[in-house]
Amino acid sequence: MQSSTDAQSKPVLIVGAGPTGLCLALWLNRLGISFRIIDQASGPGTTSRAIICHARTLEMYQSLGIAEDMISHGSKLQNVTIAQQGQIRGSLKFGNIGTGLSPFPFILSLPQDIHERVLLDHLQRAGVTIERNTTLESLKQHDDGVTARVCGPHSDHEDISASYVAGCDGARSTVRKSCGIKFEGGTYEQKFFVSDVNATGHIPTGDVNIFASGRNFCIAIPLPGEKRYRVLGLVPEGVKDGDLKFSDVQPAVEDNTRLGITAVNWFSTYSVHHRVASQFREHNVFLLGDAAHVHSPVGGQGMNTGLGDAANLAWKLASCLKGTTDPKILDTYHQERAAFATELVNSTDRIFTLVQARSFLGTVARSFMLPYVLPIAFKLPWIPTFAFKKNSQIQISYPQSDLSTGNGAGCRLPWVETGESDNYKSLEDSRWVMHVYGEASDEVATLASESYIPLHRYAWSDHVSKAGLVRDSVYLVRPDGYVGYLGTDPGELGDYLKRWTVPEQK
Ligand SMILES: Cc1cc2nc3c(=O)[nH]c(=O)nc-3n(C[C@H](O)[C@H](O)[C@H](O)COP(=O)(O)OP(=O)(O)OC[C@H]3O[C@@H](n4cnc5c(N)ncnc54)[C@H](O)[C@@H]3O)c2cc1C
Ligand SMILES: *[C@@H]1O[C@H](CO)[C@@H](O)[C@H](O)[C@H]1NC(C)=O
Ligand SMILES: *[C@@H]1O[C@H](CO)[C@@H](O)[C@H](O)[C@H]1NC(C)=O
Ligand SMILES: *[C@@H]1O[C@H](CO)[C@@H](O)[C@H](O)[C@H]1NC(C)=O
Ligand SMILES: *[C@@H]1O[C@H](CO)[C@@H](O)[C@H](O)[C@H]1NC(C)=O
Repeated sequence: MQSSTDAQSKPVLIVGAGPTGLCLALWLNRLGISFRIIDQASGPGTTSRAIICHARTLEMYQSLGIAEDMISHGSKLQNVTIAQQGQIRGSLKFGNIGTGLSPFPFILSLPQDIHERVLLDHLQRAGVTIERNTTLESLKQHDDGVTARVCGPHSDHEDISASYVAGCDGARSTVRKSCGIKFEGGTYEQKFFVSDVNATGHIPTGDVNIFASGRNFCIAIPLPGEKRYRVLGLVPEGVKDGDLKFSDVQPAVEDNTRLGITAVNWFSTYSVHHRVASQFREHNVFLLGDAAHVHSPVGGQGMNTGLGDAANLAWKLASCLKGTTDPKILDTYHQERAAFATELVNSTDRIFTLVQARSFLGTVARSFMLPYVLPIAFKLPWIPTFAFKKNSQIQISYPQSDLSTGNGAGCRLPWVETGESDNYKSLEDSRWVMHVYGEASDEVATLASESYIPLHRYAWSDHVSKAGLVRDSVYLVRPDGYVGYLGTDPGELGDYLKRWTVPEQK
């Protein structure tokens, strides 16, 4: 049970209750670590913002026991059309494009406000209260912890002590600024708009409809209800800066989509940034989510990356607080997540720069590559598979991490069906597990039982081999589903277990 309203100090303070902070709270609760979670806003977000939930996120949600609930609130992305001036030029079939690669072989479309509500629901059921109207003002670090000064509904200045602070406070992070951590990168000149409109006229019937032309780019997504759409895109060239209204983008939207807009329910514009924090950890303070990295919405990676940060940090904090692991484990949070974020910001930057470019190349990309080449390419079976692997975040891997020992370690445990079930079933406890596909030696079995780590043995088969698993090797899987040790040397395995794992007698 968790009661966060008392002033007593807790080992962890989570600053920010956006998707990243909420997800971290669920993990810590699951791992038996108590915490406080504060947010300056009076309530949860009410706008849709991120709309894509990727397979890797759902896999991690499965370990938290909330994947099915999340899926029931969204819909599987079936198809995307590409159109010009109201005419369909091509369509891309999605559906189960990742069959055989993940227990969730699809892209889930789920607006961020609903996503956050599902996370909140589960926290509420666990008895966790979010302290709202509570703003972090500054942080001070000392040898054995952190003191956070907050301004809340009951007092202008409360000092909260915690062993660790998790900064999940978004792109303008006070946590990041208090630590003097740099947030380098830049801001694109081109502005984006998002709106929720009622419209008449004929619109292509894809789950997502992309309208690309020589000059413009916008996307229309049908919303529940008659003739309601989310329309988002680039603010067209030549539109005045400053206080934009929907009427400023309306002519370009109507020309591009051939829709007649009859009502505007919500309209917002935003600038897109590409920045990565220079450090994700400063002593006992950590940065997660938008506080650590921001980039263009290409591929719908932003929110998912924050959720991945939370899954990566939670069990490491828990191991340290339980006091049995080498505290250097906390360094691996930056090693693993900053490397991924930097690569992601760079790759989305390249694509985004092209899509928004006013140059000849940008025009060719929008008016020819996107509508004519992509739909044909997507009919080749390996292209959708490639796109799924790249986008779903299942290929994230940490080979350079101090936590990865052995050739091939650091990857996500490859998923494989095993008879009636699959090899992810054993990950649902969110603790270390050992897998062997083929024969496990007696020495390995002894090491597993001495360290109270469950050993799962799976029969070797062609099917297992095709999934990319190595015969007779030991897969020591971390609580977040990544392979820590991979190999066959009992000596090496024994050293690894001693240094990093937390024995949990059951
Ligand atoms: C208009 C808009 C459209 C977007 N569209 C997309 C999209 O299409 N696809 C996509 O992937 N992403 C999109 N994003 C980005 C996506 O919303 C973010 O990546 C995601 O919300 C990040 O989650 P987070 O929890 O890290 O941060 P946030 O959601 O920003 O949450 C931070 C929380 O911290 C709180 N907070 C901030 N400062 C303090 C403080 N000092 N003290 C206490 N609390 C504090 C805030 O109130 C907030 O609740 C969009 C964002 C916006 C604004
Ligand atoms: C937060 O503040 C708003 C007004 O600023 C108020 O309506 C709301 O009740 C407050 N919520 C809490 C939990 O204190
Ligand atoms: C897209 O899928 C929906 C059902 O999910 C279907 O009604 C629609 O016709 C499809 N559109 C295209 C362009 O394939
Ligand atoms: C917009 O559409 C929604 C759902 O179809 C409807 O409830 C609402 O009344 C419409 N708004 C206007 C201003 O027509
Ligand atoms: C990303 O881009 C920056 C700046 O252009 C560069 O310094 C960095 O090496 C790149 N990193 C990766 C992983 O590509």
